[in-house]
Amino acid sequence: MTPSRRTLISRAITTLALSALSALPALAQGSPKLKVGLMLPYTGTYAAMGNAIENGFRLHITEQGGKLAGREIEFVKVDDESDPSKATDNVNKLIKRDNVDVLIGSVHSGVAMAMAKVAKDTGTMLIVPNAGADAVTGPMCASNIFRSSFSNWQPGYAMGEVVAKKGHKKVVTITWKYAAGDESIRGFKESFEKGGGKVVKELSVPFPNVEFQALLTEIAAAKPDAVYTFFAGGGAVKFVKDYAAAGLKKTVPLYGAGFLTDGTLDAQGADAADLLTTLHYADSLGTPRDNAFRLAYAKAYKLQPDVYAVQGYDAAQMLAVGLTAVKGDISKKAEFSAALEKARIDSPRGPFTLSKSHNPVQDIYLRQVGGKKNKLVSIASKALADPGRGCKL
Ligand code: PHB
Repeated sequence: MTPSRRTLISRAITTLALSALSALPALAQGSPKLKVGLMLPYTGTYAAMGNAIENGFRLHITEQGGKLAGREIEFVKVDDESDPSKATDNVNKLIKRDNVDVLIGSVHSGVAMAMAKVAKDTGTMLIVPNAGADAVTGPMCASNIFRSSFSNWQPGYAMGEVVAKKGHKKVVTITWKYAAGDESIRGFKESFEKGGGKVVKELSVPFPNVEFQALLTEIAAAKPDAVYTFFAGGGAVKFVKDYAAAGLKKTVPLYGAGFLTDGTLDAQGADAADLLTTLHYADSLGTPRDNAFRLAYAKAYKLQPDVYAVQGYDAAQMLAVGLTAVKGDISKKAEFSAALEKARIDSPRGPFTLSKSHNPVQDIYLRQVGGKKNKLVSIASKALADPGRGCKL
């Protein structure tokens, strides 16, 4: 063999050996990482919720030893800014550029509806960890779309019953003019009017506007028996403070979907004292499951958890249920969905199952603000299921 031929052969052997070596780590690792697209607000009035959801989600994965069904998790994060006009582009990038295996998002109903449309069209698995848009588990429902949170109808409907039972007859509502606000008010009105009350005025401001003064003046002039509201995040802080500053807290009782006082109490201070709200979580459930979750969350993040943290945690639990059923192979969509459809999720809020349209069937609690907590008063509505109107699965 000539020396140059020997050199060529030895080079070829070296190259082969090197490429075999570089393939080894991937083989040794088993399956590649599961890519999770987190599409959440990290700026704006809902920023704190994006962080709480991510914290909760990561906590469950950490508790499982960093893997779900044997697969390590890789996150691709997008700040959706709670801006529906950017949502379709954002979600398409996650699917087409980043090749995510599953989508988790979002907080804002308008953003979640855009995500649901793309998820349905592309068949990408989607778990919604907050946004309550009724349509997501209504007309837009799909076999690959699930929710770990609530429908906007649920807390509203539960509160309508509470307020009617208290004997209030004439109520003014006030909210942001977008799906979440409209649907929360609709849920409230449905049960409140069934219970003999009347919604006499429906007030709103555009999202995420917080100029409430003119509307508070209108409420004072209307002299209703009570007010029902949906606000959340930074807007909820401002609304509760403005309501008290206008002198209304002493004269017209304020009721809300629980987002009004969840994750917001530090900033609202005494202005939130004693407020009654309805939600699928409370800070003092006192169950072993919730106590363990609260302790683990506080230890990991030096923060108290809120409803958003619970929903993020449960989104990860739901992903784990589906992935375990398909042994980590998320391409087996029918089996993944079937497992979730019959699952009982062991949530810190209390166990829940999923309705036909994939929304949690859950207890809605009546809570009252006491100190820095939304304290449990009673179960306002037991195992409340969203009607899933318009869903064909
Ligand atoms: C929603 O847009 O669906 C939404 C946003 C924030 C909440 C609850 C619902 O706290």
